[in-house]
Amino acid sequence: MELQKIYNENCLDTMANMPDNFIDFIITSPPYDNIREYNGYEFEFEKIAQELFRILKKGGVLIWVVGDKTENGSETGTSFKQALYFKEIGFNLHDTMIYYKNNPMPTTGNRYHQHFEYMFAFSKGLPKTFNPIKEETKFRGLANMKNRGETGSLHYKKVERTSEKKVGNVFFYSIGGGISTKDKIAYQHPAIFPEQLVIDQIVTWTNEQDLIYDPFMGSGTTAKVSIITNRQWIGSEISEEYVKIAGQRLSENFSHNLF
Ligand SMILES: C[S@@+](CC[C@H](N)C(=O)[O-])C[C@H]1O[C@@H](n2cnc3c(N)ncnc32)[C@H](O)[C@@H]1O
Repeated sequence: MELQKIYNENCLDTMANMPDNFIDFIITSPPYDNIREYNGYEFEFEKIAQELFRILKKGGVLIWVVGDKTENGSETGTSFKQALYFKEIGFNLHDTMIYYKNNPMPTTGNRYHQHFEYMFAFSKGLPKTFNPIKEETKFRGLANMKNRGETGSLHYKKVERTSEKKVGNVFFYSIGGGISTKDKIAYQHPAIFPEQLVIDQIVTWTNEQDLIYDPFMGSGTTAKVSIITNRQWIGSEISEEYVKIAGQRLSENFSHNLF
C-alpha cells in the first residue's frame, strides 16, 4: 500500500486493501449522529469498527473522538453504544478520556453548555507504547527535623521539592479560527481537530516512524501532525472537496506535494 497518502474513497475500501495487523495507531473523529452534512456522507459504523480492529497491530491504540446529538429532548447515547460495540468485538476500553473545549459554542435551553467530547482510547490487547505527557508538581511543606530543641518541641524546616507526574485524562483545548490551527484553508472543513489534540495523542501512543491511520481524514490534521512528529501515515476521506483542502494544506506547510 502506498503510504503518506489520502485515499479519496470510503474508508472501508481503503481498509479492504490493508493486511491484518498493519497499523500502529488510529486517531479519528467519525461523522457522528448526522450532526453535520458532509459531502458524500456515508458511515457504516459496525463494519468500520470490525475493520479497524482487524488492521490494527496487537498493542495498537485507536482514539475515537465523539459526542452525542440531542434528539427529541434526549441525548442519543451513540458514543456509549459505539464504545460498548468496540468492546464486544475485542477491543479493550483502555481509557475514557475527555476532550474539553475551553470556549465552546454557547447553547440555549435548559442544559449546561456542552463543553466536551469523549476521547475513547481502545487498545488491541495492552497498549505497546505509552509515553505519558508529564507536568511539573511542586511540593511545599514542612519537614520534621527529628531532633527536639531546648524547648522540647519538634523543629521543622521549610522544604520545596519539584518533580513530575502524568497529566490527567481530561485534555483542555481552546478552539476556533486561528487557534485550532494556523492554516486558514483548514476552516473550509466544518469540524476540524485542534492540532494540539492530535499531537498529544500521537506522541503518547506512538514512536517515530510508526504507521498512523485516520479513516475520516477531513482537512488533513492527522496527516500534518504525523509529518511534523516524524511518523508515517495513511488516510481516507470520502469527499473530493475535503481531500483537495487537505492536499492544499499539506503543500502549503511542506515543501513537496504529497499527491
Ligand atoms: C469529523 S470529520 C473529520 C475531521 C478531521 N478530524 C479534521 O481534523 O479535519 C469526518 C469526515 O469523515 C468523512 N467521511 C464520512 N464518511 C466517510 C467514509 N465512509 N469514509 C471516509 N470518510 C468519510 C466526512 O466527509 C468528513 O470529512
